[in-house]
Order: sequence, then C-alpha cells, then structure tokens
Amino acid sequence: MMRSLIDIAELSLEEIDSLLATANDIIDNPQKYSEKCKGKKLATLFFEPSTRTRLSFEAAMYELGGNVLGFSEAQSSSAAKGESIADTAKTVSCYADIIAMRHPKEGAPLVASMNASIPVINAGDGGHNHPTQTLADLLTIKREKGRFDNLTVGLCGDLKFGRTVHSLINALRRYNNVKFVLISPNELRVPEYIRESLKKENFEIVETTDLEAAMPQLDILYMTRVQRERFFNEEEYLRLRDSYILTPEKLTNAKSDLSILHPLPRVNEISVGVDQDPRACYFKQVLNGKYMRMALILMLLGVE
Ligand code: NCD
Repeated sequence: MMRSLIDIAELSLEEIDSLLATANDIIDNPQKYSEKCKGKKLATLFFEPSTRTRLSFEAAMYELGGNVLGFSEAQSSSAAKGESIADTAKTVSCYADIIAMRHPKEGAPLVASMNASIPVINAGDGGHNHPTQTLADLLTIKREKGRFDNLTVGLCGDLKFGRTVHSLINALRRYNNVKFVLISPNELRVPEYIRESLKKENFEIVETTDLEAAMPQLDILYMTRVQRERFFNEEEYLRLRDSYILTPEKLTNAKSDLSILHPLPRVNEISVGVDQDPRACYFKQVLNGKYMRMALILMLLGVE
C-alpha cells in the first residue's frame, strides 16, 4: 500500500525505531546506501522559504543515488497562475516517485497526498505540523540521551505557531514518563487543542513564562524562533520576538548533561556564545535530519 507522511502520529513506535536504526546504519555505512534510489526522483515542492528542510531532502536523495526536481518558491510554480494543490499533486505524480511539500496553509500536504499517486511527505504546513523535523529531533535525542522515556523536556519560545513544537510533543507523548515544561509568553502558549488533549491523558505539563526558573530540571531544552510570518500584526511580533534569549549565563543552573536543541533558523533566541557549549546540539540536529530523511525516503519508496 502506498503511504505518505503527513503527521508524525501516523508512524508507529516500531516504525520510528526502525527509521532510527536505518539512520544509524546509514551513518555507519553510507556506501551501502549510495545506490538504493538509483533511477528514482524526489520532487521538492516548496511554497514557503526553507534552507535546511529542502536542501536536506535534496542531499538525502542524492546520497541515495537518486535525482531531484522541484521549485523553492510559489511564485515560480503554476500556483502563481491559480493552480490548485490537487492539480499540482496529480501533475507532479507524472514526473517523480515521491514528493516533499512545504506550504503556508495548514492541511495542504494532506490535500496533495489525497490527490497524488505517489507518496507525499509533509515538509511543514503553516503553523500546524513538521513531522520530518521531529524525526531529526528524535534521532538527536536518541543519540544524545540514549532514551525517550523519563525525560523532562522544556519547549521554549513560540509554542503557538511553532509547528516543530506541535509535532515533537505529539511524538514524545507516546513514551513513558515524559514531562513537558512549556515556556512561552502568554500570547504564544501551546494551542488549546494540544493542551486539552494532553490534560485528557493526565499528562504532566507545566506552563511557565520563566526559562531560568525551569532550567535546573530540564534534560532537553528545545528553543524556537518567534514565527514572524504567522503574526497578523508586526508590532506584536516586535514586542515578543526577544522574549527568550539563551546565553551562557542562563545555563549556569542547567544540568551538566542537558541537550540544547533548536530546529533552526535561529534569529536571536540563542546567543552564538552558547555554540561552544558541549550541550549545544543544534548543528548535529541538522545533520541528523538528513539521515532521517534518507531513512524515510527508503521506507516510503519500499526500498529494502
Ligand atoms: C522550522 C520550520 O520551518 O518550521 N525550520 C525547519 O524546518 N528546520 C523552524 C522555523 O522556521 O522556525
């Protein structure tokens, strides 16, 4: 059966384990994979800006021996002429074997997957979800901490519009004894629907505006950018954008084995002074994203 990946919850825990195992094997034996996708094509349909996600999908496909086609802005595609997502998906299905799509509208990759005859991967849909960033985050957590259970995870910044946050919560909530500390300004709290569903499962969540007070208990600190492009009002963005700036001083009370993650791009949320700290994992996370996308492409294309 043909499969897409629109939401991280579509993957069972066994499938996530298997993707992690494949990614680790790719890291150890890259040459084994260098021709696995020979003759296959990935289409990257990016209706929104991207550096990491699009280039890591493309690098992933090249490292599997496959080819890549696509566009990196809506203005250069027929969307600018008014073509629907459904028609674009049907068209691209004639040219490629798999699609990675990013779109500013929530649900657009889902619509594409319902109309395409090839697998569609959600590479970020509006302020909703970003499952492949979560795969990168999971590999990073696994390699740094060796586990997903019994972790206190602080998520800090724009928890309202940050799609990577929503997907990461939905992945980690399935493990045992994970505690979320949600650190944001009141205006940028995690959406009500996510909070309610966590409460319904009696999940332990703490909401706070105070990063430094939360710091000592954290095993993971996931920093995020305030999502300027999702604000209706620039003044509101300017008021909130520097709510949290992680500096070496603020890490004084942190655990010695804390892992600091950030999906990037960073604007101001982490001062460059933190980059030298051995607890900073965000550039490793970038590399891990490529390996997990390689593993995912293999899985969705049914390559052994
Ligand atoms: C994230 C995104 O696009 O949601 N970037 C990424 O894919 N690594 C995070 C962000 O833009 O803030």
